Amino acid sequence: MNDIWKRLAEHHRQQGDLRIEDLFAADPGRATGFATSADGLVFDWSKTAIDATARDLLLQLAAPVAARRDAMFAGQRINETEDRAVLHTALRNLDGSVTVDGKDVMPQVRETHQHMRDFAARVRSGAFSGQGGRFTDVVNIGIGGSDLGPAMATRALSPWHDGPRVHFVSNVDGADIADALKGLDPATTLVIVASKTFTTIETMTNAATARDWMAGSVTTPATQFAALSSAQGKTAQWGIDADRVFGFEDWVGGRYSMWGPIGLSLMIAIGPDAFDEFLAGGLAMDRHFRSAPDGQNLPVLLALVGLWHNQVCGYGTRAVLPYDNRLARLPAYLQQLEMESNGKRVAMDGSDLTLPSGPVIWGEPGTNGQHAFYQLIHQGTQVIPCEFMLAARGHESDLAHHHLLLAANCLAQSEALMRGRSLDEARGLMRAKGLEGAELERQARHRVFPGNRPSTTLVFPELTPFVLGQIVALYEHRVFVEGVILGINSFDQWGVELGKELALQVAPLLDGVASPGHDPSTEHLAALIRELRG
Ligand code: F6P
Repeated sequence: MNDIWKRLAEHHRQQGDLRIEDLFAADPGRATGFATSADGLVFDWSKTAIDATARDLLLQLAAPVAARRDAMFAGQRINETEDRAVLHTALRNLDGSVTVDGKDVMPQVRETHQHMRDFAARVRSGAFSGQGGRFTDVVNIGIGGSDLGPAMATRALSPWHDGPRVHFVSNVDGADIADALKGLDPATTLVIVASKTFTTIETMTNAATARDWMAGSVTTPATQFAALSSAQGKTAQWGIDADRVFGFEDWVGGRYSMWGPIGLSLMIAIGPDAFDEFLAGGLAMDRHFRSAPDGQNLPVLLALVGLWHNQVCGYGTRAVLPYDNRLARLPAYLQQLEMESNGKRVAMDGSDLTLPSGPVIWGEPGTNGQHAFYQLIHQGTQVIPCEFMLAARGHESDLAHHHLLLAANCLAQSEALMRGRSLDEARGLMRAKGLEGAELERQARHRVFPGNRPSTTLVFPELTPFVLGQIVALYEHRVFVEGVILGINSFDQWGVELGKELALQVAPLLDGVASPGHDPSTEHLAALIRELRG
């Protein structure tokens, strides 16, 4: 642990019982001084215990970020455990130029982007249709990064959705594909198989099921399939014509891939121009990240606040609370982005990490969460930093009164978390209800809110394709900054491999075929399932 971490830990210890409210009392400029903006996005981090000393120390942690950031944008192989460059940013910088191993990668990126645009336009106009006519439905089959991004964004941008209906199938649980295909006409359905590797067992199983389903009524199902993959040999083996295959390079990580071919379902839903607006938002955030000084740099500040809460204060989880129903899938998307990227226990150089890795990310949109789990956030024994998000304007201008209530709830929650309610205030409430003596004391204690619970708020003008692009890129870079400061590789995911391997070995057990090497509990559970299955 370097000296800055030690000083941060010591500072946090010295803060003792400090209340966030006292920081506002001591610094009349705090509300604006700890709110930072970039191209219309405002990140308010004033309702945290980060004071000027903590801020200055945290900013020192960011010293290694600039060099690593520049190496990433320059196409260097910063994903060292997979020996790959990290260039998802190239997918949204179509006029840019970047070389990997001396080769300019942009002509290929532009060509693929144009291919996507043409294909999406033809699907939307009906120029490319199914055996039964114009496509009414598109089914995207993919999992993890080949599902969460486009599924989240398609929902987020539903007001722009003027193409065919789009459905997402990810789970190998047959219930997922059965429910998705129910009521669809195979003759007017386009199936997109989204898999970087084209080997993921869930996706390939679902794709085969979709092909069988289609074969029942369409003479050549493969003509109604498209593929999004880096493994073009495998897509050809699967019988998908190269015309409908959209490739990308190994320097696009799965959870960072929605900007390119993996975003095709989104592009078909909202149209190529709106999709390009989404890319433009991502590019605007890239430019901000590359040029703003650390103290004004949104990704850097989000990362530093995260490190303060998790690594310094020891708060093990972070709640993502978008006050925007269309961002309902954002917490799930961020779970993969953040936890698959930074959930590591070994540093880039192979040594053990001496600090905790990333926190558990979870959440739900407000106000729904308020009626479910906020009780624990307000009165539970653990501190959960909350990340609120809110559009200043709702999309439904005729329902502005709804949006006002939504916004009021969002602000009220962060205020309540910080302020709390003291025992004296609670006693006053009970007295007003006519209680006294021991019963007043007992009831009052249940109504105390400790307060002093940290939160941040991200405010944006309205949830548009551009703004969504800004938000997604903001989080991508935040993860990157945290990874650099912790010294880990945010771009591999070795931790998902063991379970995948064992699943292949457990499958025979469930069929009653001997499969040696399993522990007694797994053997017992498999036997139980076989017995219950009959
Ligand atoms: O299992 C994890 C993972 O490899 C993710 O990183 C990835 O997004 C997902 O599986 C899907 O992979 P693919 O696109 O190759 O099917």
